[in-house]
Amino acid sequence: MKVLVFGGSFDPVHKGHIALLKRAIQIVAPDVTHLVPAYHSPFKAKSPTPFRLRMKMLKLACAGIKKNLVFDDYELRQGGKTYTYQLIYYLQKRYKNPDIYLLVGTDCLNDLHNWKNPQVIFDNATVIAGKRKGYSENPAAFKHIFLPGFFPKLSSSRVRAHILACGDIPSTVPPQIMDTIRTHKLYGLDLHDWLKTHLKPNRYQHSKNVAEMAGALSDIYDVQVETAVRAGILHDAAKGFSGPELIQFCRTHKIKVPFFEDICRQEPSLLHSFASAWLARHKFGVKDSQITRAIAEHTLGSLHMSTLSKILFVADISSKDRKYKDAFLIRNLALQDLDKALLYAANRKLLFTIDSQKWLCPLGIDLWNHLIKQEK
Ligand SMILES: [Fe+2]
Ligand SMILES: [Fe+2]
Repeated sequence: MKVLVFGGSFDPVHKGHIALLKRAIQIVAPDVTHLVPAYHSPFKAKSPTPFRLRMKMLKLACAGIKKNLVFDDYELRQGGKTYTYQLIYYLQKRYKNPDIYLLVGTDCLNDLHNWKNPQVIFDNATVIAGKRKGYSENPAAFKHIFLPGFFPKLSSSRVRAHILACGDIPSTVPPQIMDTIRTHKLYGLDLHDWLKTHLKPNRYQHSKNVAEMAGALSDIYDVQVETAVRAGILHDAAKGFSGPELIQFCRTHKIKVPFFEDICRQEPSLLHSFASAWLARHKFGVKDSQITRAIAEHTLGSLHMSTLSKILFVADISSKDRKYKDAFLIRNLALQDLDKALLYAANRKLLFTIDSQKWLCPLGIDLWNHLIKQEK
């Protein structure tokens, strides 16, 4: 009896999963295949996508595979943290002495020995994995099989980041699940609906461009892509408010803003970054203070900017909708040296303000002096 087992968050299932599964079924020729969505992956924060929706999408995406598939809610039934070795025990119990084949992605392969009780897995299952182009094999100390051919470098987190940044569903998602994502407004589609009705079209487009650029920079500077994209898409959420509305909003919600009275008198539009940070936390449920801080700092900066704050500041001033002369230069510089790009971005921002004969907020001046000191 051959049992193939494929677990994961499937949040959402993508074409890479399906390609891997189909090939594994072809090569292993299992009597039965268990597909086991994670209830709560031990390595990830709890997914906000309900289990039943991830399971529904998995079933829809596998509809064309006419083999003996079991959509197994084992982890949901366990109702808590579960590990792969427990899943192996469960399958052993369920079938009499089965040959268990554990299907994993290439990324998991080098990490398997860090899983809980890895020896139980290696002693009782054969690991099978798909290879990506350029993958250098680690001489693994356990029996494993590589499926023939190469598999695309896809990941659910990339799919989620794409939807969050662009408000559309990428072609890496099986077409059968697109309706479910749209109907339930998953992965940030709800947020896009709100932004579309509260921002002017060009401001909405700018937000998407900033999210896209922040996502691209996150890869270079080791920030989680979804974190960067979330900061980008929400950074101007309050930009649709007028000056008096922003003042009222900050007062009503008791938002702490340095130089508040001066800003109210001189340039209330500067309040939009603080109001957007409030919306991110309280309207869109962003709990990550790194994100809300970056949003609050995207206009004036601060003396202690995180990498994410720097990425957002730079992306905001040089996203592809910015057409002034140096935008392209800053955009390219950001790919090489984020701190240099930040210095240029702060410089441009100060010069814009001076050129348009507007008031310079002390926060912007402090940032400039701080960056110059660091340069030397
Ligand atoms: Fe802004
Ligand atoms: Fe912006």
